[in-house]
Amino acid sequence: MRVGIIGCGNISETYFECQNLFNNFKIVACSDINFELAKKTAEKYNVKVLSVDDILSSQEVDLIVNLTIPSAHKEIIIKSLNADKHCFSEKPLAMSFSEGIEISELSNLKKLYVGCAPDTFLGAAGQKARSLIEENKIGDVVLGTFNLMSHGMEHWHPNPDFFFKPGAGPVFDVGVYYITQLVNLIGPIKLISSLSGTATTERIITSEPRNGEKIKVETPTTLMGILEFYNNAKIQFFCSWDVWKHKHSTIELYGLEGSLIVPDPNFFSGDILISHKEEDWQIINNDKMLLGIPNKTDNDGNKIANYRGIGLSDMIDAIHNQRQARCSLDLAVHVLEVMDGIIKSSTDRNIYNVKTKPNQPHFLDDSEIINLKK
Ligand SMILES: NC(=O)c1ccc[n+]([C@@H]2O[C@H](COP(=O)([O-])OP(=O)(O)OC[C@H]3O[C@@H](n4cnc5c(N)ncnc54)[C@H](O)[C@@H]3O)[C@@H](O)[C@H]2O)c1
Repeated sequence: MRVGIIGCGNISETYFECQNLFNNFKIVACSDINFELAKKTAEKYNVKVLSVDDILSSQEVDLIVNLTIPSAHKEIIIKSLNADKHCFSEKPLAMSFSEGIEISELSNLKKLYVGCAPDTFLGAAGQKARSLIEENKIGDVVLGTFNLMSHGMEHWHPNPDFFFKPGAGPVFDVGVYYITQLVNLIGPIKLISSLSGTATTERIITSEPRNGEKIKVETPTTLMGILEFYNNAKIQFFCSWDVWKHKHSTIELYGLEGSLIVPDPNFFSGDILISHKEEDWQIINNDKMLLGIPNKTDNDGNKIANYRGIGLSDMIDAIHNQRQARCSLDLAVHVLEVMDGIIKSSTDRNIYNVKTKPNQPHFLDDSEIINLKK
């Protein structure tokens, strides 16, 4: 498929590079409201530069990849569908559950696919953890925790404003990886109870080039609470950008027969820890699995697995084979409703009952990965 990218910011490099990993799409054009940036990006990757309107109406583009900021996601997805194009969007799908419903209705009406990041749950760690749970290695999962805590994003991103506005914050921006991973591992969520806090109402940028500029915080920077899943598991969560240092692990699941620690779902690989009853932890390394083999070097010089783009490639394969994509719209709308529900429950001080109930995404096996990889 011929792909057009809208949004040429920080993450666009990852998408331009991922066309070298998968065999069923080619990026042919890009655009951005910042036309100079789009022009520079187009020159770098040898693609056409177009205005946003022109990329949407282009006969040479079949599918839009939406890499704009969260507040523009819905608008770009709706415009793509109205231009008769499929759309794969960066997360979060939109700013609220009601926006997600609007997208879903138009996608059904137009019979066009909308997919959404994150796709990291399709990586080695997520798929290995899924198989351990399905093989009943820790028994039925009854309890768990997930923790994501740091001191925000203003120290690394060149334009960190959007992180502190509605549609971002620690749940919409990072919690989305954890919630999606948990739905992959144990199925959909039924109800939510949460509380929120904001430690400081102003953030000072310490990254370049805007070092010293201030950002007004307009969404909670801490959310804590409990999710109850349809399988009755209760998962406690702590999502915060108000914490300098901590020693919690990312995702811990407790089953009737044992416990499982799943690595950071923002990444494709990482060690899994598993224990049976009171026995010692065993380490499961996933670096030899197809979507766990290190293929990139991170900013600290560590070799990591980064296969972002597998969700897009899987969606294109789903379009060709008329099946549901793994990073499906149903999954994205559910995760969006849960994130919105976490904010609502904390504002209303009530339990939020989740209305959507997607299928667990299908397991991704090696033969399918080999079929998609270049
Ligand atoms: N940066 C990362 O490491 C990262 C990782 C995973 C996901 N994401 C997600 O990807 C998305 C983009 O993040 P980013 O870090 O690249 O942001 P960014 O601010 O660096 O880039 C966003 C780009 O979108 C453009 N844009 C905004 N509104 C637009 C509109 N209406 N039409 C056309 N262009 C528009 C902006 O001009 C900008 O160039 C976000 O949703 C973010 O959550 C980012």
